[in-house]
Amino acid sequence: MVSKRILSGMRPTGKLHLGNLHGALGNWIELQNSGAYDCFYFVADWHAFTSEYSSTQDILENISSMMIDWLAAGLDPAKSTLFVQSAVKEHAELFLLLSMITPLAWLERNPTYKEMKAELSSKDLSTFGFLGYPVLQAADIIMYKAYGVPVGVDQLPHVELTREIARRFNFLYGKEVFPVPEPLLAGVSKLLGIDGRKMSKSYENSIYISDTGKDLQQKIASMFTDPQRMKKSDAGNPEICNVFTFHGLYSPAETQKQIEADCRKAAIGCTDCKKMLAAKVTEVMRPIHDRIDYYKNHPEEIKAVIEEGNIKATKVARQTMDEVRAAIKI
Ligand code: TRP
Ligand code: SF4
Repeated sequence: MVSKRILSGMRPTGKLHLGNLHGALGNWIELQNSGAYDCFYFVADWHAFTSEYSSTQDILENISSMMIDWLAAGLDPAKSTLFVQSAVKEHAELFLLLSMITPLAWLERNPTYKEMKAELSSKDLSTFGFLGYPVLQAADIIMYKAYGVPVGVDQLPHVELTREIARRFNFLYGKEVFPVPEPLLAGVSKLLGIDGRKMSKSYENSIYISDTGKDLQQKIASMFTDPQRMKKSDAGNPEICNVFTFHGLYSPAETQKQIEADCRKAAIGCTDCKKMLAAKVTEVMRPIHDRIDYYKNHPEEIKAVIEEGNIKATKVARQTMDEVRAAIKI
């Protein structure tokens, strides 16, 4: 059976939050479980070095905690190939070759590059590696001849560049070695962080997949709600309340309806509403939390999953590189 290949990667930023779970990671799991695709998902650890090159001490630890979250949330090594970029050295070789054919102007005009450089202004990102980030990403993608790349909007310029690089390679060497991949735009999570801004690790406003018990309750208790609702006797507006958005994902429909009606007539207070939410999140997340505990106590299983994925990915990568070398006559 040959099914279409999907490929995507995440930089190892450590543990993932609920925004990731209901965004990118959830999308990966759905694609995997649809059974329609041959999914390759990898930890983009070399990509982490492009911005973290001066403080690399957390990367290794972050790889395993991210892999634990992936497995606990439902990525399944029996269905998907889960691997680590730096273990498949072919990525470096293809990156080098693609760098020869990529015009500098394509990289300099990349909007994601300009944005990230401005956003991470505390770091010196005037490096060759950071500018070349999308070339490495292109190598990741076309190495596996991916048909589709599930990504968020922020990554669209990178996928577009990948398409241009793939076409340029095929054109220059007169062979359709690489299919031109399609971006598969993932739905974005509507969940905001506890301070009402976008949920993001760097804002320190995240609820993590692995948060449990008191930590979880406290975070939920401190969430921003409808800012107009100062006192319990004020009517609230659930439509603009992040707590209600969470209820939308974690509570049954009847509960949502009840809260909505009660909030609008000030029959429920935010404290109680949040307690109900914390209880629901705890309940819904329990199986995931149990699996996180399990994997934390069985690091050898994580290691085995990664090793098996690396072997599978390497096999495909070697085949591709044989074709690449033949095409460029080296
Ligand atoms: N740049 C992606 C991000 O920051 C991570 C990534 C690296 C990636 N290589 C990839 C995503 C290949 C999709 C395909 O999220
Ligand atoms: Fe939000 Fe719930 Fe408070 Fe209404 S009662 S404002 S939905 S937290």
